[in-house]
Amino acid sequence: MAVQQNLPAAACVYKGFGFEGRLAVVTGGARGLGRAIADALQAAGAEVHAFDWDVAGAENVPFQVHKVDVSNSESVNAAVAALPRPPELLVNNAGITRDKRIVNMSDADWQAVIGVNLTGAFNLIRAAAPGMSAAGYGRIVNIASINGIRGKFGQANYTAAKAGLIGLTKTAARELGAKGVTVNAVAPGMILTDMTQALDEQFRQKALDETVLKALPAANDLANAVMFFLSDAAKFVTGQVMKVDSGQYI
Ligand code: NAI
Repeated sequence: MAVQQNLPAAACVYKGFGFEGRLAVVTGGARGLGRAIADALQAAGAEVHAFDWDVAGAENVPFQVHKVDVSNSESVNAAVAALPRPPELLVNNAGITRDKRIVNMSDADWQAVIGVNLTGAFNLIRAAAPGMSAAGYGRIVNIASINGIRGKFGQANYTAAKAGLIGLTKTAARELGAKGVTVNAVAPGMILTDMTQALDEQFRQKALDETVLKALPAANDLANAVMFFLSDAAKFVTGQVMKVDSGQYI
């Protein structure tokens, strides 16, 4: 299955979203879903900063890319402090998988996945929340997964991290709401990116069989949901989880 590239036509859709002058941080923004989200925000007029561990291949992107390990709070705090001003829009998208059955999962497999997918989002929210609270405005979107809601064979570390991310989303929404900050999560089903292209074809076929729309979403389809949560169209929506999964998990 070919990875669907970001479509210029889709980028035009985001013009008029009103993000001009807003500073956005997208973790894991150098490729995959993060890249599509960063492209959409850029097209909508935001000043986009991608925080990514692996910056190779992202030299020519139309936004700024910073080498940051989201699982390391010192790396995150330094990167946020070095921005020209505090971020108003934050998308916690960086994620990794290290799939194994529980009985075969090492301490390192467990900790690495929790560290990036869950602690990484915590580190960013903690670093960005004071600036958003002071400004009385902020939008945070966390990228979870349908597997964090339903569980998945071979993904104890990943599903625990994504379920934890949903809990973090709801608590952050409660803590920051009075300061004008919304916090929501998007839970994708299988979307064609480098992460899922690395899987055996049988797993992509199984996901396709699970869908009710009989097609897998592309990165732009996920970016649309993120842009909704970031926009003023969703200014009274907080603490929510929206699945974008072609009906894989109804
Ligand atoms: P990807 O592997 O294509 O991209 C992930 C990005 O995160 C990469 O640019 C990588 O360098 C970066 N990253 C990894 N560790 C990092 C760290 N410690 N610090 C900073 N950046 C780091 O993955 P993809 O598919 O784009 O996934 C993005 C998010 O969406 C992840 O959170 C993933 O769990 C989630 N997701 C993806 C699905 C899919 O089908 N592709 C389904 C459900 C959730």
